[in-house]
Order: sequence, then structure tokens, then C-alpha cells
Amino acid sequence: MIVTVELNGKKITREIAPDLLLADFVRNEGCLSVKRGCETANCGLCTVFLNDVPVLSCGVLTARADGCRVTTLEGIRDEAWEFGAFIADQGAEQCGFCNPGFVMNAVALFRENPDPTEEEIREYLAGNLCRCSGYEGQLRGIQAYLAWKKAGRPRTQAGELSGESKGDRPGDPGGESKGDGSGNIAEGAEE
Ligand code: FES
Ligand code: FES
Repeated sequence: MIVTVELNGKKITREIAPDLLLADFVRNEGCLSVKRGCETANCGLCTVFLNDVPVLSCGVLTARADGCRVTTLEGIRDEAWEFGAFIADQGAEQCGFCNPGFVMNAVALFRENPDPTEEEIREYLAGNLCRCSGYEGQLRGIQAYLAWKKAGRPRTQAGELSGESKGDRPGDPGGESKGDGSGNIAEGAEE
């Protein structure tokens, strides 16, 4: 069967097998941030946005995405980079394998609820399994990021904060961040 999908802003038409999973489709297109962790819709590692709604792509047929927008971490690099620096600053990443799915779900949360309570954050991210951490660093990273956004710190492009000096924000080169400052949200993204 033939499907047409807008993948990360680019319209593509492909002939696919009717049972091709969306996770495999996007990986075949080079979006290697999308992982197959459990393959049973339990871990969150394969999260993509389908028409801006987060879905577990290991449980969605590509046929369902026909005519839709599909977004992976590769398609929201700027947004993800901004947030990823706060996660790195908390040392929340260990192996990094869960990070792309976690960032996708965190971005979805910020879009849906820009001012979530701690309980709402925990609830929203409950489906994101991490085998390395106790989630506390991730929670602190989210809270620090939200506080930074609330304080109104606009940025112009990745790595540049408008009207701010270097190191003003966790993860910025030259700052006093404990993290590596890379804001490397794609750590472990390509395998
Ligand atoms: S691989 Fe899809 S939820 Fe785990
Ligand atoms: S950091 Fe290793 S699985 Fe989450």
C-alpha cells in the first residue's frame, strides 16, 4: 500500500507493507532517536507525535499515519535542545537510552500544560521507563526548566540566549553547570 506522511516537515510517499509499524517506518527514514524498547507499548521509548499528539509508535500501524504529520525528536531539535540542557545539568542521564522518549513526552507536557504541578508531571511521565535512574533528576530538570521559562528567558536559537550572558542557564558553555553543558538530547539516540 502507498502512504503519504509529513515526516518532520517533509512530505514523503512510500510503498509499505500493511503491517509496518510506525516505529520501523520512521527508523527506516533515518529517525534513529525512536527506539524499540519493550515493543509492548509500555516503556515510552518509541514516542513520536502524530498530528502533534504523542503516541507509542511501536503500537501504531504506519497506515494510520497516512495523510498525517509525524514528528520525531529530529524534528524538534531546537525545542528539545533547550530542555535537554536542564536534564544534563541535573545529571539525570545515565546511559541515555530512554532520553529521546522522555524528552518527547516532556515537550508534549509543556505544550499541553505549561505550568504543571509536581503530581501532574509525575502522572504525565509515568509511562516513560528508565532503567538507570530514580526519576528524581529528571523531575528536578523539568522543574528547573519550567522555572527558567516562567522567568521569561527567551532564546533566539540553539546555544544563544537573547540578551543574556554566557553561562546564565544550566548547560550553557562557560556556565557553572555540573553537567557537560552539551545539552545533548540525542545522547544514545543513534544506534
Ligand atoms: S517500544 Fe514502544 S512503548 Fe516501548
Ligand atoms: S538513563 Fe538509562 S534507561 Fe534511562
